[in-house]
Amino acid sequence: MSAQGSRGARRGSEGAPRGSGGEYLVEVMHGVNLDQLGNRDPALYGTLTLAQLERRIEARASELGMRTRFFHSNHEGEFIERLHSLRSPPASVDALVLNPGAWTHYAWAIRDALEIAAVPALEIHLSDVQGREPWRRESVIRELCFATVSGRGPDGYDEALELVREHLDRGRA
Ligand code: DQA
Repeated sequence: MSAQGSRGARRGSEGAPRGSGGEYLVEVMHGVNLDQLGNRDPALYGTLTLAQLERRIEARASELGMRTRFFHSNHEGEFIERLHSLRSPPASVDALVLNPGAWTHYAWAIRDALEIAAVPALEIHLSDVQGREPWRRESVIRELCFATVSGRGPDGYDEALELVREHLDRGRA
């Protein structure tokens, strides 16, 4: 289980919320195989489907005064193109919560696309990637993310949203 703050923190445009009504807009991106939640090893990933997890995230974000948008793909190129689109309106967002699945550990092109997107990002994993196989300990996106949360299952997303809110509020102050 881990959560780290203030690593490589970066801001959106002058910390101004892009969402309407002064609410922050957060995009939650899930990568390869995460559409299989509910079918995947429940001891590692829990029993919620991706759709159920997204509804949960949306509810918690709304309690924190943030709007959410969701994206999932099993195709690395689509994931990369989504990251490119976040750089400018109409797709731009205030922050990203990113769970790229196994791409986390080797997909350098996703790392570069995240850098191009230049949006404050938080890395999240349901399972404890540091406590599993050695190859899962590597993360190509970690250095670009202001925080990492892992090993807390769906609850980790609650923590992630709180960290995003704090990070964006700090950027505004
Ligand atoms: C994961 C961890 C990755 O190592 C794995 O490949 C996944 C899910 C997680 O959320 O725990 O697909 O990102």
